[in-house]
Amino acid sequence: MIEMKDVYKTYPNGVIALNGINVRIKQGEFVYVVGPSGAGKSTFIKMMYREEKPTSGSIMINGVNLAHLKDNKVPILRRNIGVIFQDFKLLPKLTVYENVAFALEVIEESPRLIKKKVMEVLDLVGLKHKARFYPDELSGGEQQRVSIARSIVNSPKIVIADEPTGNLDPDNSWGIMEIFETINDRGTTIVMATHNREIVNTIKKRVIAIESGKIVRDEARGEYGYEV
Ligand SMILES: Nc1ncnc2c1ncn2[C@@H]1O[C@H](COP(=O)(O)OP(=O)(O)OP(=O)(O)O)[C@@H](O)[C@H]1O
Ligand SMILES: [Mg+2]
Repeated sequence: MIEMKDVYKTYPNGVIALNGINVRIKQGEFVYVVGPSGAGKSTFIKMMYREEKPTSGSIMINGVNLAHLKDNKVPILRRNIGVIFQDFKLLPKLTVYENVAFALEVIEESPRLIKKKVMEVLDLVGLKHKARFYPDELSGGEQQRVSIARSIVNSPKIVIADEPTGNLDPDNSWGIMEIFETINDRGTTIVMATHNREIVNTIKKRVIAIESGKIVRDEARGEYGYEV
């Protein structure tokens, strides 16, 4: 499903962000990625949707080696991977409905199917009743739920999230986690970088800890493990 072999990443400025990563994540797993600031978590995650290319090593996603993936094939990869960020990256001039539909429209689905799929995912994240609202009319938690709806509307097998609760209060953070668990129960792989100790220690999942670009810990039902 996701497999990295001897992945190294040196940024153009000389910073070594990943220093020999070897990992396998199976379909349907839920994985937290933890570690200190600057450890390489975001870089690790960016490798999976080819936001960054490795300096060396191989990255297999569903049998495709991203190191060799041509740039014009990257949009196809991105359709099969949902990505969620700390800032929600919604388009401010589009409604909730349009923000989610946008992801489907680019692959030319029929209008009827678009409506059905968009309303289904908005229902899943509890925002069907706000389909006509604009992002600035929503709370942070609601905006993040829209961004999740957008990321899963194409039914990706993998959802990758980089500190998805980073800008949210505890209530909203738990709400987001409920949605992730629902998606994961349906068989979607989730990889989530987080600094949220309470979530990691409460909703027990596989924990991969990265320090200085290396995996230093990988536990099936792990703990957050760092002092505040
Ligand atoms: N585009 C870039 N160009 C140069 N260096 C970068 C770039 N992006 C990240 N880095 C560096 O690579 C290292 C790893 O960064 P990364 O963003 O992966 O860390 P992180 O674990 O996600 O940290 P945080 O918890 O603060 O988000 C850091 O030293 C960072 O400064
Ligand atoms: Mg980061």
